[in-house]
Order: sequence, then C-alpha cells, then structure tokens
Amino acid sequence: MKRTRVGILISGGGSNMSALIAASQKPDYPAEIAIVASSRPDAGGLDKARAAGVPSVAFDHRLHDRAGLEMAVDAELEAAGVELVCLAGWMRLLSPYFVEKWKNRLINIHPALLPSFRGLHTHQRALDEGVTLHGCTVHFVRQEVDTGPIIAQAAVPILPGDDAERLAARVLAAEHRLYPHALALVASGRARVDGERMVLTAAGDIPAPEPLFSPAL
Ligand code: GRF
Repeated sequence: MKRTRVGILISGGGSNMSALIAASQKPDYPAEIAIVASSRPDAGGLDKARAAGVPSVAFDHRLHDRAGLEMAVDAELEAAGVELVCLAGWMRLLSPYFVEKWKNRLINIHPALLPSFRGLHTHQRALDEGVTLHGCTVHFVRQEVDTGPIIAQAAVPILPGDDAERLAARVLAAEHRLYPHALALVASGRARVDGERMVLTAAGDIPAPEPLFSPAL
C-alpha cells in the first residue's frame, strides 16, 4: 500500500500530532508522518515527535517575518517529500502564498462544530450561547480563518455544570479520534474536494469514530 507522506505543523503541546503519529504506526494506515515542523523552539510537541522517532524541525517565529517563516517551513516540507500538510495547533496565520500552494492538500482541526465558533475561545463561546452540542471539525484550509470544505466532525455534548476547561478536555479527546479518521479519508483519496464541497467515496472499509453523542436524558 502506498502511504501518503504527511507533514504536521505545530506550535504547542502537540497532542493531536501524537494522535496522528500513533495512528500512522499501524501498518494499514494510509499515511506516514514524514516530518513535524514547529513555529516555536519550545513547543512541547517537539519532544513527543523525537520520542516517536519522527524527524522534526523547529523555527522561532519571532526571528522571521511571515513570508520568511513559511518559505523555510515549505522548504523542509518539500525536502521531506511531503504530499499533504496537517495543521495541529499551528498558531500562525498563513499567507495566500502558502494556502494556495498547498490548496486541497492542507487540512486543519478546529475545536468547534464549524461553521459555528470560528476563531478563538470556542468552548467559552459555546457555553455562553447555550448550545447543547459542541465538538470539533477537520477541514481543508482556505484563506479565511477556519473556513474551507469540511471533511469530518465529531459532536460532544455540553453537560450540566460544564465550564470551558472541562468541555475543552472532552472536545480534545474527541479531536484525538477524529483527526486520524479524517486524515485517513484524505490520504487514501476517499475524501476530495469538488468545487468547495468535500466529496466522499467508498469510505466503508475505514472504521468511523464512535457515533455522535446527544445529551442524555
Ligand atoms: C487543539 O484544540 C486544536 O483543535 C487547535 O489547537 C489545539 C492544539 O492542541 N487547533 P494540541 O497541540 O494538539 O494539543
């Protein structure tokens, strides 16, 4: 089986990165992690990548302008033979150059059910709005932040007594199941973009994550 070569971009703890690396270690997973690149030299995810034996490279975004950082990252992705890029807590805005170059080969995970709650502080905003289902989304990246064709979503119920921290922890656990699933769909060619919609073909042999939750009575 040909495995798609994936680059993961991180800025922080890298728990989603770890979930992708763990999934890729299964022999039948359709992607392999070729490189991890960080925008911060102190990102916790770098140690996790090293421990997993995945090549990594660290940049300090304060030493580069946006174009310079992206060109340096892009050069590392190319040198590693990357075909598909996963943003996993990459906290830098991306320029049209990078987004266009990797169009439909660049995916992101966002901690909300898009198109609701784009941007930051999604958990508190979901609580403030009083929604009963929250969750996470993996999507192809477009220039406008947290937009682009949706690949997969997982719903997480908001429970009585939730605060942003408790909710964030449950959403993050869902992210760790959702992202490997979504990457498998894209890497295997089953999820692709047609116009500005994701089209799914024959996903039957990829096990779906657990069914959607709904609030218990
Ligand atoms: C996650 O909540 C993800 O949805 C968001 O950034 C966070 C990254 O966390 N884009 P981690 O570094 O993967 O632990």
